[in-house]
Amino acid sequence: LWLILGIRRRRPGEPPVESGLIPYLGCALQFGANPLEFLRSRQKKYGHIFTCKIAGQYVHFLTDPFSYHAVIRQGRHLDWKKFHFAASAKAFGHESMDPNDGFTTENLHQTFIKTLQGDALQSLVENMMENLQCVMLQSSTLKMNSNDWVTDGIFAFCYKVMFEAGYLTLFGKELNPQEDKNLARQEAQKALVLNALENFKEFDKIFPALVAGLPIHVFKSAHSARENLAKTLLHENLSKRTNMSDLISLRMILNDTLSTFNDMSKARTHVALLWASQANTLPATFWTLFYLIRCPKAMKAASDEVKRILEDSGQRASVDGTHICLNRTQLDNMPVLDSIIKESMRLSSASLNVRIAKNNFLLHLDNNESYSIRKDDVIALYPQLLHFDPEIYEDPLTFKYDRYLDENGQEKTSFCRNGRKLRYYYMPFGSGVTKCPGRFFAVHEIKQFLSLLLSYFDMELLDPNVKIPPLDQSRAGLGILQPTYDVDFRYRLKGL
Ligand code: HEM
Repeated sequence: LWLILGIRRRRPGEPPVESGLIPYLGCALQFGANPLEFLRSRQKKYGHIFTCKIAGQYVHFLTDPFSYHAVIRQGRHLDWKKFHFAASAKAFGHESMDPNDGFTTENLHQTFIKTLQGDALQSLVENMMENLQCVMLQSSTLKMNSNDWVTDGIFAFCYKVMFEAGYLTLFGKELNPQEDKNLARQEAQKALVLNALENFKEFDKIFPALVAGLPIHVFKSAHSARENLAKTLLHENLSKRTNMSDLISLRMILNDTLSTFNDMSKARTHVALLWASQANTLPATFWTLFYLIRCPKAMKAASDEVKRILEDSGQRASVDGTHICLNRTQLDNMPVLDSIIKESMRLSSASLNVRIAKNNFLLHLDNNESYSIRKDDVIALYPQLLHFDPEIYEDPLTFKYDRYLDENGQEKTSFCRNGRKLRYYYMPFGSGVTKCPGRFFAVHEIKQFLSLLLSYFDMELLDPNVKIPPLDQSRAGLGILQPTYDVDFRYRLKGL
């Protein structure tokens, strides 16, 4: 009977199992409706580790943050590649990027580290700063000669500005606006990016369904949106662009030399990177700007910090065509903005960290208990449990702009539970080997965005008492959640 129902029996030494009432789906519906509530209630019932059947798969949830390192550092028994490669191929439609499957010998992890961190970060940051200012100060964002307020949704504004600037930073430009003053060509370039934005939104909407296993053919318009994005990212189109990031130019070379992908498959690997670079950054930018504008103390502290950095480097914002430059050292020296970004991401992140057992093994927890894990089982961490734990973060649902600042106004790194210092207390970027390789760039670009807004614009909420929009739980597990609705604000050029 157990076999017919697809329910497995708990063996001695295994974590407690909850198979749910529905065959195959198991607990999927309850988990999907509100993962945090579901996991909290099971944590109360079972303790540090328990197993849930979710859509045919047995998932061990480890909820004790002191035991996280057992999973994060457990390279020998746990595989992360299997899950990542399969999820990416399914969602973006390229062939497998796992060298074991024989379509490529590229070591993607190395490509990412080499082109998103260290020296490569410098040029990414410089280009982003330039692109952000071009986009923010262009006439369609702003009526340059007027001091009128412009009203927009915060989410819509962040999407427009960050998507365009991020797209141009990664994929370069068709032309150099400083040299090419041809208006028609500039308009055409703008139209291409706006088109990409529309296609990105259409595709991103159904992303959770793709990860859950639904085939893309079910979603006609999202499917064509993804293919349209891929067509603009075909190598023959990319090779006409200038000032491309190291990430995309190296990936093009490796696609062409180490893989047997066809042209469309190569292009789809670039769509995957477009998605990775934008899907979390856009909502993270929204939450940061939203919480900043809503909190006068945060606004004051952030404005003072940006002012100090500009003054120290002898710069001031102006609309005469000279742009502000902030190098990496200056960006690294902004603890207030860092704290605001971290706090906003703590409140909006719902990523799931997943590993797959390569063989049967014993998982040792911090409390000296050990549990048997079977080959091919999934082990998952859901850091929102720790981000919203009142013992770690007092008053966890409240935005406190200085939560990550110590008494000297520098980065606070000491967070405790039951009087014990935690090693893992902030995990929106994942953990261990699968930690987001773009995290330094992501934080820098949000910081640049805020610094520029604070320097060039006055901003205010249309309704100063506006409620915090709820998180859209349909994307839980995928990263930073979006708000369920947008919030209006208005901005105007400062009297510079
Ligand atoms: C992977 C978060 C921005 C590139 C990931 C993962 C998370 C994450 C949680 C998966 C880690 C795991 O599975 O354990 C974020 C957040 C961002 C952000 C919260 C913004 C606030 C970026 C940016 C880029 C980027 C700007 C690139 C320009 C990547 C790549 C991967 C990844 C390439 C896949 C890594 C791999 O599979 O080896 N990110 N990310 N991310 N991210 Fe980010």
